Amino acid sequence: MKKIFVSRLLPDAGMELLRNSGFEVDLHAHSDPLKPEALRRRVKDVQGLICLLDDKIDKTLMDAASKLEVISNMAVGYNNIDTEYAASRGIAVCNTPGILTTATAELAWALLFAVARRIPESDAYMRSGKFSGWQPLLMLGGAVSGKTLGLIGSGRIGTAFALMSKGFRMRVLYNGKRNPLLERKLGAENTDLDTLLRESDFISLHVPLRESNYHLIGKREFSLMKTGAYLINTARGPVIDEAELVRVLKEKRIAGAALDVYEQEPQLTPGLRDLDNVVLTPHSGSATTETRRRLAEMAVQNCLEILRGEACGNRVV
Ligand code: DGY
Repeated sequence: MKKIFVSRLLPDAGMELLRNSGFEVDLHAHSDPLKPEALRRRVKDVQGLICLLDDKIDKTLMDAASKLEVISNMAVGYNNIDTEYAASRGIAVCNTPGILTTATAELAWALLFAVARRIPESDAYMRSGKFSGWQPLLMLGGAVSGKTLGLIGSGRIGTAFALMSKGFRMRVLYNGKRNPLLERKLGAENTDLDTLLRESDFISLHVPLRESNYHLIGKREFSLMKTGAYLINTARGPVIDEAELVRVLKEKRIAGAALDVYEQEPQLTPGLRDLDNVVLTPHSGSATTETRRRLAEMAVQNCLEILRGEACGNRVV
């Protein structure tokens, strides 16, 4: 009987599918990831691996799993997997696209407003008992409506995020593949990165982590941004040079940042947690009950399809 290893406890719907799959299932039933060596031991004799974005699936791991047929990542991003090596070994790699698009775009908006209108700071202020009444200069933030929104990455999530700006009558700039839908619906302008950085009030990142996107936003790029600009990252942490981000936030070179993902996730870059002009969330782009349930179902389904020799629409290699 084929065996599947699941690297973390999944939402019920996914576990239910696994229980009824007819395959043997081994589960790491904890919320923390396994250390690489322990993960290698658990995949030694499995054909299927269902993993998460913080499990590093590299050559060493795959070499320890001689029977492996499929790696099914419960995430749309798969920068944690050496897909080239998997392909050379004939191991299928699957992801979970589409399902988390809306949830992630919604979180990007929640972050944008949270940092622009200083929501976490205001909440802490209220709880501290310091509020003594309405004051003309209390918690002033940045206006959103009518401002310029800069989108870096024009794929599924970036598009959904930009379309949600409709009610705020924003000028929309985007950098990435031409996107006729954004141009038609919003009059969005496709610009080079430098123009977007110079002209945007809100810059939101929606690119996958590839070598070419590592530190896409660094010292030079920050120097081009407006002093009133806000930067939002729901994509992948290493897209931003976070040490530089801490520096520009400290110096108030930009107005603020809101991050859901981190360069050294789950660690925070030193200095980040001490700043008022940054909002931090724990990689929760897809964290709605509905979305996580569907992600788990899709990840399990992908794995089962490959192991049963059926066609799978979510293979990346
Ligand atoms: C993904 O699926 O890549 C997301 O980052 C999860 O929230």
